[in-house]
Amino acid sequence: MESEPKTRSVSRYDDQWPSNKVGSAFLSKKRVMLGACASLLLVSLASLATMILYTSHTSNQIPTDGTGFLAVHNSAPHQAVDLFGPSSVLKGEPTMSFRDNLREEAQYITSWVSAGWTNDVMTYMNLIYLGLITERVPIIPEFIPSHIGGHVTPIPFGQVFDVPRLRNALRMPVLEWREVKDHNSTFIDDIGCWNVWEAVQYREAFARRSRSINDLNLDISFTKAPSWIKLIPNFEHDQHSTFWSLATLAFPSTREASLVPPTPSPKHNVSLPPDEHLLCYDYLYYVCAHQPYELEFDYSPAWRAVGQHMHWTPDLERLADDYVRIALGIEQDRDIPAFISVHVRHYDFEVWCGGVPVQECFASLPVIARRVREVQEEIRERTGIMVNHVVVTSDERNATWWREVALLGWFNPDHSKTKETYGDWYPVLIDAVIQSQGVGFVGTDRSTMSIIAARRVESWQYGPYRQVKWGLPNSDDH
Ligand SMILES: *[C@@H]1O[C@H](CO)[C@@H](O)[C@H](O)[C@H]1NC(C)=O
Ligand SMILES: *[C@@H]1O[C@H](CO)[C@@H](O)[C@H](O)[C@H]1NC(C)=O
Ligand SMILES: *[C@@H]1O[C@H](CO)[C@@H](O)[C@H](O)[C@H]1NC(C)=O
Repeated sequence: MESEPKTRSVSRYDDQWPSNKVGSAFLSKKRVMLGACASLLLVSLASLATMILYTSHTSNQIPTDGTGFLAVHNSAPHQAVDLFGPSSVLKGEPTMSFRDNLREEAQYITSWVSAGWTNDVMTYMNLIYLGLITERVPIIPEFIPSHIGGHVTPIPFGQVFDVPRLRNALRMPVLEWREVKDHNSTFIDDIGCWNVWEAVQYREAFARRSRSINDLNLDISFTKAPSWIKLIPNFEHDQHSTFWSLATLAFPSTREASLVPPTPSPKHNVSLPPDEHLLCYDYLYYVCAHQPYELEFDYSPAWRAVGQHMHWTPDLERLADDYVRIALGIEQDRDIPAFISVHVRHYDFEVWCGGVPVQECFASLPVIARRVREVQEEIRERTGIMVNHVVVTSDERNATWWREVALLGWFNPDHSKTKETYGDWYPVLIDAVIQSQGVGFVGTDRSTMSIIAARRVESWQYGPYRQVKWGLPNSDDH
């Protein structure tokens, strides 16, 4: 676990990881010191990581205050030594068939996505959490552009999230598919996987589809998971399963007892039972410990054990900082004042408005401003500091609306050139980073992007949040 202080002043700068300049200077000094014994260390690092994975009960005996490299790891949080990096659990460079790169002694777990970027982030969080409780190495696919546009190239998980920092915080290896199987490989790997989707819903009589499966050149033979994985038996209006019901299938006795004839794979027509070396499930978005959509709740185990350690890459964080500086009219390299972040979701929620006209369905700016004042007030009560800067992110394209935002004295990132400069992924990525950097947050009720932003602000900035209700003109009255 990372040690983060329990209190933090509203300036989000007083407790950051070392800024990049400081960080790299620190690192290069450490590297000189480490250089001499690097090769010796590498051997022991690999065997230590190996030991953690293969011997379950040793995992709480890892020294956290040792005098060797772990001490270095403690003082230089995420980049000093990538103790749990690919070399600790793979044979080497990416191979044509993923199987050639897996170590016989290790066990792995993977899954795929198909639900829009934010929900895919949550799905990977669930996958990593399932890896944690089954003591298997998660292998994460790329993010696919399901809501961005089919023509857009997928973006690697590690280009968004700081994977070395994540695995150091979790103290277990976390891999990306591009590290396992050559990205350009056209070799089709046959594999048997569990079909969760068909066991939790009754509309589609097939495993959840995902373009990641094709991108990775996998030919999958699915075994339908037992119906008891479903949280609410026979209930067609919910499709959640639970972490531990799925985890039981990772162990031999329940796995054996649950085997049914697999569906032949679409390309090679092979029938394979669920793979034990690389355990795979078709889809892990609808997974919870106790109740559906539990990322909305403070106790969410996937958030507490994994999600809060999924920090942005330093590059992405720097880019978002630049956007905030420009929005606030601050010179480059100057500190950004504390701000409240706001996420207003409109376009893809129109379908939920029913017959209510959009102008009445979505919360008006005065209603949002009332929530902003509540958050300001709570921060002032807690810290004595009044946070006046407000940065708004939204999918709204109506220029009149944005002018009204500016009239409130609020700021927004200028995305007019983001796509052409950085690519189609970046408006949403930059907005997500900005939302997470507020010392308080005001979001849109029922938006998963707002839900995850609220969790981040709570965990990373110790900030309060509110979700603005909508649907009718008085939905947010309180
Ligand atoms: C994949 O192929 C492209 C085009 O040939 C090449 O530019 C790229 O470096 C290759 N990627 C990898 C990971 O080998
Ligand atoms: C797939 O394999 C099965 C069993 O070997 C065989 O009976 C069937 O005809 C094959 N189907 C196709 C489309 O090749
Ligand atoms: C744009 O926003 C303004 C102010 O919120 C609103 O009055 C107007 O109807 C909107 N225009 C469209 C086309 O939605």
